[in-house]
Amino acid sequence: MNLFARCYCRTYQKVFLLARRFLDFSEPDLLEREGALKEDLPATLKMTGLDHFFLVISKFLFDKGVHLEMEKALKERGIVLTIYSDVDAEPTFDLIEKGVSLYKESGSQGLIAIGGGSAMDTMKAIGARIANPKKSLPKLGGVLKVTHMPPLMVAIPTTAGTGSEVTVAAVVVDKANHDKFSINDPKLIPDIAVLDGSLLASLPKSLIAQTGMDALTHAIESYIGHSGTKKTKKDALTAMKLIHEHLPSFYKDAKNVEARDAMLKASYLAGLSFTKAYVGYVHALAHAMGGFYGTSHGWTNAVLLPYVLKAFGKSAYKKLAEISDHLALTGKEANPQTKAAAVIAWIEELNETFGIEKNFAGILKKEDIPALAKHAEKEGNPLYPVPKEMNAKELEKILEETMG
Ligand SMILES: [Fe+2]
Repeated sequence: MNLFARCYCRTYQKVFLLARRFLDFSEPDLLEREGALKEDLPATLKMTGLDHFFLVISKFLFDKGVHLEMEKALKERGIVLTIYSDVDAEPTFDLIEKGVSLYKESGSQGLIAIGGGSAMDTMKAIGARIANPKKSLPKLGGVLKVTHMPPLMVAIPTTAGTGSEVTVAAVVVDKANHDKFSINDPKLIPDIAVLDGSLLASLPKSLIAQTGMDALTHAIESYIGHSGTKKTKKDALTAMKLIHEHLPSFYKDAKNVEARDAMLKASYLAGLSFTKAYVGYVHALAHAMGGFYGTSHGWTNAVLLPYVLKAFGKSAYKKLAEISDHLALTGKEANPQTKAAAVIAWIEELNETFGIEKNFAGILKKEDIPALAKHAEKEGNPLYPVPKEMNAKELEKILEETMG
């Protein structure tokens, strides 16, 4: 990337850094313990004075009846639910608009989401549209486009990775254009987040691995970027430590209570970190890949993460060395380059343990690379405060390496 373009990106990021001081990044009220869904949440919702909530839940979890005990406890307190269980993948325009209509027809006064990132992002996008009926979804896409405050939102994650329960973002799929975009606004941070480990007890191994690697990508990208604060860096490092210590055990046994609680916390902290300090080119490229080929978000991040970190080269050595020290991956005396290599080797090792592919062989088509890189450039520049700014040509090189 040439000097002029680089200066433009860095200036843009500095303006956003200053603007951050004036935005309300209030963290959600946290209900954090096993059983919080059926006990603490109904009691808390009673105190809001609202008596009708719109529940967005994935079809799979609805069929399993995950919501039933909560529904009963709410009913005992005079609170009714309208249930919307059409979620089975990331939110499309149709899914969101149907939710908006049903919400209005039902007379609901607030929103609850139970599920992974897809259910929580569906809820956030519905909330944004309800409060801003004159703005279409594409008009809400981007940064700080949500003018009016959505209704009260409660996020209940059932995977440990997306961090959507604490972030400003809702990722939306534009099927017609094979595109994905993100609505980013602090008004989309849920009011209440419920971290109830019992909801993760029957997660399949592939989801544990992919969502766990998504959380790791959030923590690393937010840590190595230029917009971190003391707090976001601390949260990111704590998340990485929890992932280092617990993700392999959670993968081995989803019923390991200590490991799953730790991963739920790691996901939350990584979300808290990246929602203020941003992600980077791993996410920009993963969103492009997901839009083109429908690859799952966590898996795509996991494959891309080592390639992107290698492409940053020297510019990321210092921060990666700090991560290595925090996780004690090498001796203290090792040089920054060796420590950075140790972090990348650790990520590759995790991918291998989880059976995650080393590259995109059989998926990524050479002729799509220029368009994918352009898409990632558009998402990443000038917004993401990455260690080294890259243009589409440089991003193409990364993708070429992932072809296998
Ligand atoms: Fe992510």
